[in-house]
Amino acid sequence: MRCGDRPDGEGCQTVVGGGGGVKGSILRKVHPMPLTTRPLTPDFGLEILDVDLRHLNDDLIAEIDALWVAQPVLLVRDQLLDEVQQIAFSKQLGEINIHVRTDIRSRSHPEVVMVSNLRLENGDNIGALASGEAKWHTDSCYKPKPDTGSLLYALEVPEDGGKTAWANLQLAYDALPDAIKAKLEGKRGAYAYNIFDVDITGDDDVKDIRAKTPDVTHPMVLTQPVSGRKGLYLDPLQTYGIEGMAPAESREMLDELTAHVTRPEFVFEHKWRRGDIMLWDNCRVLHRREPFDPMVPRLMKRTTIFLPPERYPVPFQV
Ligand SMILES: [Fe+2]
Repeated sequence: MRCGDRPDGEGCQTVVGGGGGVKGSILRKVHPMPLTTRPLTPDFGLEILDVDLRHLNDDLIAEIDALWVAQPVLLVRDQLLDEVQQIAFSKQLGEINIHVRTDIRSRSHPEVVMVSNLRLENGDNIGALASGEAKWHTDSCYKPKPDTGSLLYALEVPEDGGKTAWANLQLAYDALPDAIKAKLEGKRGAYAYNIFDVDITGDDDVKDIRAKTPDVTHPMVLTQPVSGRKGLYLDPLQTYGIEGMAPAESREMLDELTAHVTRPEFVFEHKWRRGDIMLWDNCRVLHRREPFDPMVPRLMKRTTIFLPPERYPVPFQV
């Protein structure tokens, strides 16, 4: 999207530079500094306004990084990114990840995961999730060193359904009774890839992924560097137990924590528009996707990155 193409007509001024008059001029865009933002909810999340993610300098990337450190969910609207541009933007915020599943990667760029209900001529889905509900979960927690930053870009979205919601694990931790906080201190959760996703557990591909991703444990409580802020860490689809607790007790605790985290006061739900890109930190939020009409096309592209552990909470020792 060029400056003049932006739907809101704002956010970019054109500067003629590079010398050599009109013929030799270089058009470059100047974004307002600091970035303009507005809250997504009274309690968490920010929308960044008036920015074109194809044209960022180091100062702007540092500013977006600082906003992401402060807020677990960021929204940027009205973007027009190809896969190379999405990868380039993602890489500026952290080392990029290649997903363990080959069947959901973009055919052109393995760094991009397709999230879509579109199908190839042979009937295979081009990506992950199709049109059903994606229950509350957190991406990549089944790995010893999760790639905790997710960037999801909307190319085609249904008018109804398919909204994504995020639940804030830090706000939820703050609101826990002291007795539960004490019980969780020092405890570790046990994880396996999509262990409770009944739709795909019998799938041979998933069995293969399980072989590639041995079970892991992570702390139940994570501390964010610098701020020292604590948050819960669990995944209702992939945490199957808590070390040091009997199976029945840990199941009860995990169900109780899931119900607590997903209370409406900790949740932000987003109705997608084409051109939206959402950035979230999987160590500070859970997310879910509501189902939508399978006959209506939905196409999203996701990249994930290793958020720098100096500034973002991570479930492993640095
Ligand atoms: Fe996800």
